[in-house]
Amino acid sequence: MANLKIGIILGSTRQGRVSPQVGQWVKGIADKHGSADYEIVDIAEFNLPFLGVGTGQEPGLKAWSEKLSSLDGFVFIVQEYNHSITGALKNALDLARDEWNNKAAGIVSYGSTGGARAAEHLRGILGELQVADVRVHPTLSLFTDFENGSVFKPAELHLNNVNAMLDQVIAWSGALKTLR
Ligand SMILES: Cc1cc2nc3c(=O)[nH]c(=O)nc-3n(C[C@H](O)[C@H](O)[C@H](O)COP(=O)(O)O)c2cc1C
Repeated sequence: MANLKIGIILGSTRQGRVSPQVGQWVKGIADKHGSADYEIVDIAEFNLPFLGVGTGQEPGLKAWSEKLSSLDGFVFIVQEYNHSITGALKNALDLARDEWNNKAAGIVSYGSTGGARAAEHLRGILGELQVADVRVHPTLSLFTDFENGSVFKPAELHLNNVNAMLDQVIAWSGALKTLR
């Protein structure tokens, strides 16, 4: 049977964002963890239009749909913007529907309070999209896991949490694949 495919979705798109550092760190742990194939999925690379704006024929829309369809599960790299997720991530979530359904997801978040408020908002959205979000949730602090809020230096204690989150995502991604 083919390996499960898990996309590590970078939720921020702004210039100077730190999400690629966090995503690469999660991917490094995931690659060592094994039991699935992992890839970084960078929303910024898809040049997605805002929902309802444009022709609906933008190539990024088709590419986004195809990318999501190819994945069995997700790890969302979530940053807190005004106590919620980024507009870019919300738009990317809204731009697909069936492609999300009956899949599993983990959340790795960061912010001044570990991105917890953004992560909880995301859980509500995922419920509507029929994405099963797992319990274990690594939370990274802008104060202690980053230098000057910009250079990612994660504390060692997060390693166990990321691995435990991956265990849950893999188990549920495999189980939910049988529904699709
Ligand atoms: C528009 C905006 C709003 C923000 N609001 C919050 C917030 O409500 N809570 C928080 O903890 N951090 C907040 N931050 C700080 C971000 O979490 C921090 O800049 C983080 O690095 C953003 O992720 P990124 O670098 O991947 O874009 C905000 C940042 C921006 C740009």
